[in-house]
Amino acid sequence: SHSINLAVIPGDGIGQEVVTQGLKVLSAVLPQDVKLETKEYDFGARRYHATGETLTDADLDALKQHDAILLGAIGDPSVPSGVLERGFLLKLRFAFDHHVNLRPSRLLPGVATPLAGQPEIDFVVVREGTEGPYTGNGGVIRKGTEHEVATEVSVNTAFGVERVVRDAFARAQARPRKKLTLVHKNNVLTFAGHLWTDIFNKVAQEYPEVTTDYLHVDAATIFLVTDPARFDVIVTDNLFGDIITDLAAAVSGGIGVAASGNINPSGAYPSMFEPVHGSAPDIAGQGKADPTATVLSVALLLRHLGFETEAARIEEAVAADLAERGTTPRTTDEIGDALAVRVAS
Ligand code: IPM
Ligand code: MN
Repeated sequence: SHSINLAVIPGDGIGQEVVTQGLKVLSAVLPQDVKLETKEYDFGARRYHATGETLTDADLDALKQHDAILLGAIGDPSVPSGVLERGFLLKLRFAFDHHVNLRPSRLLPGVATPLAGQPEIDFVVVREGTEGPYTGNGGVIRKGTEHEVATEVSVNTAFGVERVVRDAFARAQARPRKKLTLVHKNNVLTFAGHLWTDIFNKVAQEYPEVTTDYLHVDAATIFLVTDPARFDVIVTDNLFGDIITDLAAAVSGGIGVAASGNINPSGAYPSMFEPVHGSAPDIAGQGKADPTATVLSVALLLRHLGFETEAARIEEAVAADLAERGTTPRTTDEIGDALAVRVAS
């Protein structure tokens, strides 16, 4: 492919600042003959306050025309909790069927970790992105009374579980260690947990070279701290994946470097790439945000679109930058400039 038609959603808080750096590095890494077109969309708190809209059908139609989406961050304290999360982020993930939520964790040399020593950390979490407790299948009765009842039903379909499990096996097969861990809670969630386990074991038959194991999610949090090197690829449901990827980020350099992709592997809809961190309104506009997570998300975006060389170049640039990062704090812009210089040379 010799052009990229990118939708850019800076969003709220530090979103604009980090996305500017992501685009800077993207322009610097692309060969001359690849045409980059970008269109910016004004979603988030400002638009919500101005119009009451978060993401309309017309917006989805417009976004659908792009090859991929780069998102900064959505969320602001002036908007009630859940409005932008459900009305924008989850709506987009569901509408575009982003069932593979890909979240790599690599502890790069020179990067601080709260863990003892300098453990090897190089794994990727394949988090299911369209089902589980995220679907909004629930309700409340006797609201506001002492007997209020709230349910939040976890939705797990054989179709939805099998496709994400298959994706995770394919990823494990392609990696040197070829190891896949299913993380769930099948000793308690005996309906959903058994569906996941049965499908996992069935698909495993087709991948004899992939070593498999299973961990309950609570035990997985122990090993993420005591022995993260044991992980290669992890597949898990939407909510467990949300939780363990924050932990994974915390032990492998923090959310300043945690990247993610919301992927529709079929290409039926554009995939969306975003840093794992949020809009950090407390430091917005001060040039303090670390754009590295967004830059690494751009690498995932390029890899998804088939630009493997350029993706690897960005990852090498980030690794070199982090290895040489001194103790003097740099601005958002300075980090972006340094990375742009590295990928261009
Ligand atoms: C994330 C976020 C979202 C999630 C929220 C903001 C809806 O925490 O991308 O991990 O839970 O998926
Ligand atoms: Mn999260």
